[in-house]
Amino acid sequence: MKDGKFLVLGIESSCDDTSASVVADGRDMLSLSISSQIDIHTLYGGVVPEIASRNHIKNINHVIDQAMAEAGAEFDDLDLIGVTCGPGLIGSLVVGVSAAKALAYAADKPLIGVHHLQGHISADYIEYPELEPPFAAVVASGGNTDIIDVRGYNDLELLGRTRDDAAGEAMDKVARVMGIGYPGGPVIDRLAKSGNPHAVEFGRVMLEKGSYDFSFSGLKTQVINYVNQSRMKGENIKKEDLAASFQQAVMDVITEKALEAACEYGREKIALAGGVASNSLLRSMMKDICTENGFGLYVPRPVLCTDNAAMIACAAYYRYREFGPDGLELDAYPVLDLAEGARGEWQAPH
Ligand code: KG4
Repeated sequence: MKDGKFLVLGIESSCDDTSASVVADGRDMLSLSISSQIDIHTLYGGVVPEIASRNHIKNINHVIDQAMAEAGAEFDDLDLIGVTCGPGLIGSLVVGVSAAKALAYAADKPLIGVHHLQGHISADYIEYPELEPPFAAVVASGGNTDIIDVRGYNDLELLGRTRDDAAGEAMDKVARVMGIGYPGGPVIDRLAKSGNPHAVEFGRVMLEKGSYDFSFSGLKTQVINYVNQSRMKGENIKKEDLAASFQQAVMDVITEKALEAACEYGREKIALAGGVASNSLLRSMMKDICTENGFGLYVPRPVLCTDNAAMIACAAYYRYREFGPDGLELDAYPVLDLAEGARGEWQAPH
C-alpha cells in the first residue's frame, strides 16, 4: 500500500516486448516501462523466439527497476505481483514468470498469473475508468484475432478466433512480400491512407453463417498471388492501392463479426484491444458502426494496445480480488484456454 492505494506490479514478456508497470487500485497507471525488440527482429522479418527470450533476460531487471522508480514505489509498498503466464512463446514467458516468482518470494508478496488475452481486454479498463462488464471485445494482434463475450471481470467466453493467420500476422506477411518493412500493420495503415480501397477486389472470408471465427490466410494468399502475377507481367504495383484494398478486406470482416456478436449477445458496448486496434481504418469503421447502432466504443491509446504490463497489472488486480493469489508453483503455459485462465485454472497442455 502506498498513500492508501493497492499497488500491483505487472510483468509482461509473452512475445518480444519486455514490460513492467505499477498500477494503483486496479486502474490508475503510475508507471509503464516497455523495452521493445522490434529493431532486432526486423532483421529477420518476424519474431525469432530464441532471440526474444535471450533479450528478455537482458532487459527484465532494468524494466522492473524503471517501472518501480517511475512510480516512486519500493518493493515493500507492493500488494501484489501479477505476471503473464500464458499463452505465448514458452521461452519468453518463462523469463517473466521466473522474475515475478523470484520477486514475490524475496519481497514476500502474493503472486498471481494472468492470461495474456484477459490482459489485453483490461487495457480498456485502464483507458476508461468508467468501463465495466458486460461488453463484447475484439482482440486483434500479431498472434490473435478473437471475439470475446466479457460477462464479468473474470468471466470470459471466447466466441470466435482465427483458424489460421491472425490479422496482424497476415498484415506482417503481406508487408514482407510487398517489401515495405516490419512490422507490416503500421506501414500498411500509413500507405493505405493515400490508396484506393476498391482498386483490387479481394474476397472476404466470412466462414459459416453464425461463426465468429476468422480465416485470413486465404486473403494473404490472394494478395501474394496478385503481387507475383503483377511482377511476372512486368506491371507496376501501386503499393498504396494494394495496401488500402487488403486492409479494407481485413477490417470489413472484423467489424462485421464484432457487430454481429454484440447484437447476438445483447451487448451495448464494444471494446477493442491488441496491436491491430491501433489501425486507423478499424477505429474509424468501428466508430461509425457503433454510432449507427447506438453502441459505446472503447479503444485504448496505441501504447496500451500493444503488449504492455499495465494491462497485466489491471487484470491481476481483478483476478486477485475474486480468487486470491496463486502459489509459487505457478508455471508458464504456451497454450492456455481463455475461460479457464480467467478463473486461474492453470493446466499444462497435453
Ligand atoms: O499486440 P501486439 O503488439 O503484439 C502481439 O502480437 O502480441 O500486436 C502486434 C501486431 C503486429 O502484427 C503489427 O503489425 C500490428 O499489431 N499492428 C497494426 C498496427 N499497429 C500494429 N496492424 C494494423 N494497423 C496498425 N496501425
